[in-house]
Amino acid sequence: MDIEYREFSDKAGRYAYLNEQLDRVLSETDELCSALANASALFYLLMPGLNWAGFYLMKRGRLMLGPFQGKPAVARIEVGAGVCGTAVARRAPQIVEDVHACNNHIACDAASSSEIVVPIFADGEILGVIDIDSPLKANFDAEDLKGLQTAADKIGAFAQNCAAVD
Ligand code: SME
Repeated sequence: MDIEYREFSDKAGRYAYLNEQLDRVLSETDELCSALANASALFYLLMPGLNWAGFYLMKRGRLMLGPFQGKPAVARIEVGAGVCGTAVARRAPQIVEDVHACNNHIACDAASSSEIVVPIFADGEILGVIDIDSPLKANFDAEDLKGLQTAADKIGAFAQNCAAVD
């Protein structure tokens, strides 16, 4: 595929590129696991200043670790627990500027300082979440949320088609 890192002067340009490349990797497969593995690699490759990027997926009423890039992470998160479980409980994205000042944060890598979590919906249900960590404080803002929301919508639509194929 040969997808390369590119420098951008603004986040809007970076996310436009990232979401174009996401379309490419999603068009290569009809397997959710393969798609999420490549999507996590894309986030890690194309977004500077990250130490973890990946997915937790809803299975049997809780979040289970999915494909990711970064250090090994907690395998299972209850709804309402941590930043990921809060995003599921509230059915809403979460941006944490300083995870060390956040009571309901589950630490996986001591290097993490800020985090963004975006729920993925498929057929109106939460399929899982995109979870991205940075060692930089306040690394994520409304522009990141907009770009990652587009990515989450693409992945949700892809998952709906996977289910149709299966
Ligand atoms: N920090 C997350 C846990 C997962 S790791 O960041 C990979 C949370 O609080 O839900």
